[in-house]
Amino acid sequence: MTNQDRRGVATSAADQTEIDAVDDALELFLDYELSAGAAVKQVLGDHPGSVLATVVRGYMMLMLETVAVQPKVAALAQAALGESDHAVERERLHLRALGQWAAGDVRTAASTWDRLLAQDPLDLLALKMHHYTTFWTGRANVLLATVESVLDAWDETTAGYDHVLGMYAFALNETGRFEHAEEIGRRAVAANAEDLWSVHAVAHALEMQGDLAGGDALFDVEPDQWATKNPFVGHMWWHAGLFAWSRGDYDRVLTLYDERLRPASTEFFLDLQNLSSLLTRLELAGVDVGHRWDELGDYAADRIGDHVLTFTDVHCALTLLRTGRTEELTAFTTSLQAHRAAVSSDDATGPATVGLDVAIELCHALELDAAGDPVAAAERLAAVRGDLGPIGGSHAQRDLFDLLLIDLVERARDLDQALALLRARARRWPRSAPTWHRYAAALAAAGRPGESDDAARRAMEITGS
Ligand SMILES: [Fe+2]
Repeated sequence: MTNQDRRGVATSAADQTEIDAVDDALELFLDYELSAGAAVKQVLGDHPGSVLATVVRGYMMLMLETVAVQPKVAALAQAALGESDHAVERERLHLRALGQWAAGDVRTAASTWDRLLAQDPLDLLALKMHHYTTFWTGRANVLLATVESVLDAWDETTAGYDHVLGMYAFALNETGRFEHAEEIGRRAVAANAEDLWSVHAVAHALEMQGDLAGGDALFDVEPDQWATKNPFVGHMWWHAGLFAWSRGDYDRVLTLYDERLRPASTEFFLDLQNLSSLLTRLELAGVDVGHRWDELGDYAADRIGDHVLTFTDVHCALTLLRTGRTEELTAFTTSLQAHRAAVSSDDATGPATVGLDVAIELCHALELDAAGDPVAAAERLAAVRGDLGPIGGSHAQRDLFDLLLIDLVERARDLDQALALLRARARRWPRSAPTWHRYAAALAAAGRPGESDDAARRAMEITGS
């Protein structure tokens, strides 16, 4: 008889000791614990034939999101498939998904996880990987539909339900159901505050609702609260920085940058996104960030030829622009175009090429800005502003490109367009002091002092709240 894991999902694990070891390691992985990698290694040491531990190890390596690991993981998946006579069908499908993802074909891997979930909606590992990759390929509706397709199979008595609620909350947020997202996210956190994705879903819901006090409360944590967590914790502090930025408290943003984000930063791709995004927001609000860009420029330049996650690509290009590395920006764009061409010739139906096309357009807009042509840069960016979803990331992250467009339009001296964009932005983000400040300045420039004073008052009310 086939053994089953904690949720009753089939496993080839030989005995209860191996089942528990794999389940425990998976729990550490889902709780964003730094120790998850060592735990998986330990399982493989104690139970060398553990298919699921091999799969989790491979998934974790690919989550580094660099081409450097892909051949190694592809070989790992291939070898494991060859030695998997004892594996159950579900495990073989996971190995297949691992190989597909390692080959850069994340869409096909997602289809394999879809199949796994259709066969067993309690396959929490398949759900997590589907959720993770769907997020980075910007398919918000699929995020929600996938969680909704499995929800009926779960309840409070199912081990790991808290993780499912966290994913559900995040998917609700990215499809515009902010209040529901907050409610579900808080339920997930109440059940398990260790899963950072659940806490993060609440942060997103508060951000989208402009609930700055709620955001501050969420991040009012003990200094060592997340000391055992993996580098995703840097992104948590990025969210704390966003709340401070919206309040116009730029000193706090810089403090968070220096004391929370920067010290924790690694070669991990998400760090570059967080740091570059926050520095750009500060500069667009008129803050001098000193030499903080320099090290980021080096990181971005090193990513030429290393294209896996499109959302990282656009942040690398942005970093090269803002560090004045114009030639490297051009080299990066050329390299991304070559990657796009290789992807489409490899497998036209597999990888997400739409996001790459949009990212290349963004790179061209940045190149035009670097060349001193904000008019053309604004036109190019405006042309794709409605199509940014496929580059991946969240609404809160992609909002950066709206800010960049406003800056470009202002530098292009198109005051009417700047006012239109700022008017829309003030309506969408009514609790954003930097937005009201900028709107006030634009209204003053347009000779509308009364409205400018009103906008400036709105900014001050937020800053003083
Ligand atoms: Fe986020």
